[in-house]
Amino acid sequence: MKKIQVIAGGTSGMGLDTAKALAEYGPVFVGGRNPERLQNALATLKEAGVEAYGGRCDISDIESVKAFAAAAGEIAPIGNVVNAAGVDFDVSTNEQMVEINMVGTVNMVETFFPLMTEGTMLNYSSITGYYYQPTPEEKAVWDAPTDPDFGKKCLEFIVKVPNPMPGRLPDTYPGYTATKRFVIHYTMANASRFGAKGLRIISIAPGSFNTPMLATQKEFLASIAAGTAYKRVGEPEEMAYLIKNLLDPKVSYLTGCDIIMDGGKFAMSTVKQLA
Ligand SMILES: NC(=O)c1ccc[n+]([C@@H]2O[C@H](COP(=O)([O-])OP(=O)(O)OC[C@H]3O[C@@H](n4cnc5c(N)ncnc54)[C@H](OP(=O)(O)O)[C@@H]3O)[C@@H](O)[C@H]2O)c1
Repeated sequence: MKKIQVIAGGTSGMGLDTAKALAEYGPVFVGGRNPERLQNALATLKEAGVEAYGGRCDISDIESVKAFAAAAGEIAPIGNVVNAAGVDFDVSTNEQMVEINMVGTVNMVETFFPLMTEGTMLNYSSITGYYYQPTPEEKAVWDAPTDPDFGKKCLEFIVKVPNPMPGRLPDTYPGYTATKRFVIHYTMANASRFGAKGLRIISIAPGSFNTPMLATQKEFLASIAAGTAYKRVGEPEEMAYLIKNLLDPKVSYLTGCDIIMDGGKFAMSTVKQLA
């Protein structure tokens, strides 16, 4: 029996294209908060010939994630699980980014880990996570992600980080980079317990991709593109193709790490480029 491929945040952008690509491995189950977006995504997937199901879910709410997982498990045993749900600094407060990008990621992993018997859990981080360095005290908080005050404690560090480019970037930018650095850290922290069950866990760090999320940065698109090796942003299908291949069971030794796909952005911003 084919296993259900679960994609939280599978109703838009890269998550939706990831859902299309994972149809190769089994039926897909997508989720998000907005019911209309969910219905549209299901229609798009079905039109593309995908056996698609879905349910409303808010990953910042553990009870919602549990109900989402139970609904997916009713269709078929849980297979690969992707957490593409996330919010960024243009439209969200620090509190929302902590609750969704950090607490939400923990909710997804903690809920699905006991249900998985094979396959891979994949979290979406961001290349911006590499520009954030947590202090040792902050890392200690990150190492206790199921602490009931985890989100509140994370927020206390984040609000103190100064904006590196005031005027060019919103004051919520550092908070976004911190939440995504946490996704990388937390994915790595799960390698051992996933490995003990024969499972894999990885994260993927996109650079700038052509999705509704990036649409809020229209005025900066030219400069974003100029900072990449190909002078363009990435397309969601390029990310979906990579993820489908990363989740191939034959890629069996890849776990506990973050994979960067950013068109060379991080390399070009941190290492002197050869002529
Ligand atoms: N696009 C980029 O350039 C870029 C770069 C780096 C990293 N990323 C990361 O890549 C991931 C996908 O981004 P995207 O650009 O494809 O974004 P998108 O088009 O805005 O899609 C985000 C998806 O997440 C869902 N979502 C948001 N909050 C949620 C919550 N609390 N619970 C459940 N679902 C939620 C949204 O649906 P609802 O709003 O209906 O809930 C939507 O389906 C995100 O984690 C993002 O941070 C994107």
